Amino acid sequence: MDNPIIVALDLPSQQKALELAEKLAPLVGAFKVGKQLFISSGPDVVRKLRATGAKVFLDLKLHDIPNTVAKAVIAATDLDVQMTTVHASGGTEMLAAAENAAHEQAAMLRADPLLVLAVTVLTSMDEGNLAELGVGGKVQEQVLRLAKLATVAGLRGLVCSPQEIEMLRAELGDDIQLVTPGIRPATIKTDDQKRTMTPAEAIQAGANWLVIGRPITSANDPRAAAIGILHSIDPELVPKSERREPIP
Ligand code: C5P
Repeated sequence: MDNPIIVALDLPSQQKALELAEKLAPLVGAFKVGKQLFISSGPDVVRKLRATGAKVFLDLKLHDIPNTVAKAVIAATDLDVQMTTVHASGGTEMLAAAENAAHEQAAMLRADPLLVLAVTVLTSMDEGNLAELGVGGKVQEQVLRLAKLATVAGLRGLVCSPQEIEMLRAELGDDIQLVTPGIRPATIKTDDQKRTMTPAEAIQAGANWLVIGRPITSANDPRAAAIGILHSIDPELVPKSERREPIP
């Protein structure tokens, strides 16, 4: 199993993000750069994060006309990020344009295609918020509708809440990459996340990647927090140099 932890670098400055990233890079699978860090620090922070050797997930939740989204995916590929996000509600043409752009640019660069992840319904939305937009029915029904739209358009991955992992895995099969935020180790407070799962529960339910922010970034010892989480998923994931020998 590959290291499934994506650390959400929701930090106000490039300096803070890089200090933390340098400590954590050998212990995590990827770093997530969201709108706050990207708008304040720009592509430079992505290049510096890539220099640590870790993968980068550029979480900008693109939603625009197909041509504009395709161009943004090309720019993200050129920046050497490994994952990015688009809103599934942008529709089939936008989704297909994003996926095709990822493949075409990767072929040009002889690289692996960027993993374009579809975001379905934001977890801040409830049934009432969907009704305001003219979308009837339950949130889960809309999640599944948009997830199917994205996979039919060719996307290889989705962002989903812990509560959606089992349904999406059952409906969409084993190949789809499921990336899940809302993760809290059993010993830690839930912050503003309402429905959480522990790292081990989410992997057990079928997640491929876990987006984890504050349980690592706000910990007194972020490295120890990351190691604890890896250990809870699978002790083999802890790098050998970090394994403690049992005291005789
Ligand atoms: O600090 P925490 O672990 O809650 O961070 C989770 C990360 O995942 C944040 O970057 C947040 O924006 C993102 N996220 C989320 N819930 C979603 C989608 C994204 O928490 N439904």
